[in-house]
Amino acid sequence: MKVLVVGSGGREHAIAWHLRRSGATVVVAPGNAGTGALNAPVQALDIDGLVDLAKNERVDLTLVGPEAPLAAGLVDRFAVEKLTVFGPTRAAARLEWSKAWTKDFLGRHGIPTAAVETVGSREEAHHAIERRGLPLVLKADGLAAGKGVFVVSTPAEVDSALHMLFDGLGEKTILVEECLEGPELSVLAFSDGQTLRVMPPARDYKRLLDGDHGPNTGGMGGYTCPSDATQELLADVEQRILRPTLEGMQREGHPYQGVLYAGLMLTRDGPKVLEFNCRFGDPECELILPLLETNLAEICLAAASGELGHVGVDWRDDRTYGVVLAARGYPDAPRTGDTITGLDGIPARVFGFHAGTRLADDSRLVTAGGRVLTLVGEDWHMVYRGARAVHFDGKQFRGDIGVEIPEGIGASR
Ligand code: AMP
Ligand code: GLY
Repeated sequence: MKVLVVGSGGREHAIAWHLRRSGATVVVAPGNAGTGALNAPVQALDIDGLVDLAKNERVDLTLVGPEAPLAAGLVDRFAVEKLTVFGPTRAAARLEWSKAWTKDFLGRHGIPTAAVETVGSREEAHHAIERRGLPLVLKADGLAAGKGVFVVSTPAEVDSALHMLFDGLGEKTILVEECLEGPELSVLAFSDGQTLRVMPPARDYKRLLDGDHGPNTGGMGGYTCPSDATQELLADVEQRILRPTLEGMQREGHPYQGVLYAGLMLTRDGPKVLEFNCRFGDPECELILPLLETNLAEICLAAASGELGHVGVDWRDDRTYGVVLAARGYPDAPRTGDTITGLDGIPARVFGFHAGTRLADDSRLVTAGGRVLTLVGEDWHMVYRGARAVHFDGKQFRGDIGVEIPEGIGASR
């Protein structure tokens, strides 16, 4: 089997690693230094280039890492070209690329989420904020690469968030949302439009600094199967959130095929949807795939042809921890080009998934993005030994990933 993986992060390195472990031949577009020998120089948003690549390489299946090509209609285009691809169409990916549409959808189908008002101007926003009272959450409608959500508790924070949303991001529509409380949980599932195969749950650490301080990031690490994600809770999430979402999408004429990722808040009133993503999370993917025992290409191929119901998906019953090593200046202005050394000091049973890495002309491994590497393993101490062994100037990482404090709250607030 030959598989094309689209993207260039730690997520795509983990996908490529898992596929190769099951014997597939893999091409990554455009990839990073971790997937170096597999890379093809086609960017993730160059859909014409990806169509040509998939045809020239005669790939059997394409897997898409990031949301932007899905939102741009990669899957619709591949279908026209009769190329097999695992991922949602543009219409189905709307669950990620329009938060306003998604809130309406959740409302139509009675799926639990925070109360919301959608507004189209600063004036309307101020009225909504006055009616509801602070604290509130202000969100961009569209894709914002993790920079479109502001939890605001003071008028000054409101002003700066509205400025960022309307002027900085140029949003036409924003959401004024009730502020929920509780630990967060990411629940991802494979879907063929009808059948769901839920993955082990994960907890992602979004803030830069220990103790959930500092700015929001794309994710600084995480761990799978937190103690508060019980079997009962997961059954509830599947029944009240994931299934009604799939059924609703089908009924509305946009069957959802791909990875459905529910970002949840575990509130006192039960789990509620914060957001959906239409793809694997990063770093969730790096945490979850080492636990997958079934051939990933077979799962995705079955899902792409509506036959996921015929495939059993098996997981190892273990917990993984993942720590992201980020570049100096991340997330605001990550510096690139710093030499990376010490990868040979990563312990044997820890994976070093590359994200922002590149081979320089003189063959040095250098930083090439904000998140540089994700180290993943089952032994917490070994993962941190790896995090300390790798060196580059300005390396940043959290020291508290997967440390469960009493009350079962691991992170993320
Ligand atoms: P989102 O991109 O919608 O998942 O939001 C990013 C982060 O903002 C989430 O992981 C939460 O930490 C926080 N957040 C989003 N919506 C809410 C909400 N309604 N209440 C409290 N925090 C939220
Ligand atoms: N880890 C969050 C995301 O992938 O969006």
